[in-house]
Amino acid sequence: MSKQQIQIFDTTLRDGEQVPGCKLNTDQKIIIAQQLDLLGVDVIEAGFPISSPGDFKSVQAVSEVVQNATVCGLTRAVRKDIETAAEALKKAKKPRIHTGIGTSDSHIKHKFKSTRQEIIERAFEAVRYAKTFVEDVEFYAEDAGRTENEYLARVCEAAIKGGATVLNIPDTTGYCLPSEYGAKIKYLKENVKGIEKAILSCHCHNDLGLATANSIEGAIHGARQIECTINGIGERAGNTALEEVVMILKQHPYLDLHTNVQTQLLYETSQMVSKHMGIYTQPNKAIVGSNAFAHSSGIHQDGVIKNRETYEIIDPKSVGVTESAIVLTARSGRAALAYRARKVGYELTKLQLDEVYENFLNFADRKKEIADDDIHEIIETSNIFQELSA
Ligand code: KIV
Ligand code: ZN
Repeated sequence: MSKQQIQIFDTTLRDGEQVPGCKLNTDQKIIIAQQLDLLGVDVIEAGFPISSPGDFKSVQAVSEVVQNATVCGLTRAVRKDIETAAEALKKAKKPRIHTGIGTSDSHIKHKFKSTRQEIIERAFEAVRYAKTFVEDVEFYAEDAGRTENEYLARVCEAAIKGGATVLNIPDTTGYCLPSEYGAKIKYLKENVKGIEKAILSCHCHNDLGLATANSIEGAIHGARQIECTINGIGERAGNTALEEVVMILKQHPYLDLHTNVQTQLLYETSQMVSKHMGIYTQPNKAIVGSNAFAHSSGIHQDGVIKNRETYEIIDPKSVGVTESAIVLTARSGRAALAYRARKVGYELTKLQLDEVYENFLNFADRKKEIADDDIHEIIETSNIFQELSA
């Protein structure tokens, strides 16, 4: 069976930018959009054009520079929103309008003070109206994670009738368990009339730390698009992290799912987004954190020096990280010390290593991490230094 493609819909510039205090200006959005295009994402959600004149301008500017990806603008199920998005996307080579409405009982009752039937009608009407501007219309059922499946299926049918090409099933509040979210996608795949005319999309939030797991489970059960952000940034606990879903699919080829992302650009893209948004990536962040390929305990270091695969499932070069790091701390062993000493120019015999190691441990107990300069000092203050320099 040939591999099925999972479309990567990047929403760093829209949902990602909803992080408090992380507003990007138009120039920054252009730089990031160009990088995302190089990275090989299929869709770039550039913003929410009606939300502010600045966002309108950014969506316009991104539409002009993106060469390969579809450029998408978000709207509510409101005519004026849709008209504004269509206007902002005019210069896009491949424009998409992303429109939708809340579908959970809580949204229907409290947000819209409406009824289930009325929401179905509004969903249909919004998609139909968006379709008069662009061919490619994605519909989102906000809070689909907490929407009863049977009703959600009826809303999806209305959106398909209106002409939706993609049905986005957001777990807006990050509530679902992976098994529930996977079952929801499976249910829709099996129970929505006309589902062959559209693809299902996963859009998961990370409130319980399950966004990536839920998205993968959705893809396994038939979704063909995943919505995500670089570094998993986004409102509250964030969105599904792009680098995580892409690498999961790459590292598990038996799932028969693949993406078009150029994975060797992941690290530099992560750094770029982090810099422009002014948010540091946590050191232990999967794939792109500074410790993702760092080894500090003696047992692990010894294994990795003998063969990288003993403690690493990903080749760091495949995500654009030059090499694994052997970090020297008081928990490190002789193999790591010899390895790092060799890197800075010392080939130590076993006897020399034993002596330098004693000195190293005293040093490392005082200092959290040993840098290259410290290695010189450790060796030069050991008794064997005279011998080495002779
Ligand atoms: O989380 C969500 O429901 C969203 C929609 C607006 C797509 O971001
Ligand atoms: Zn969202």
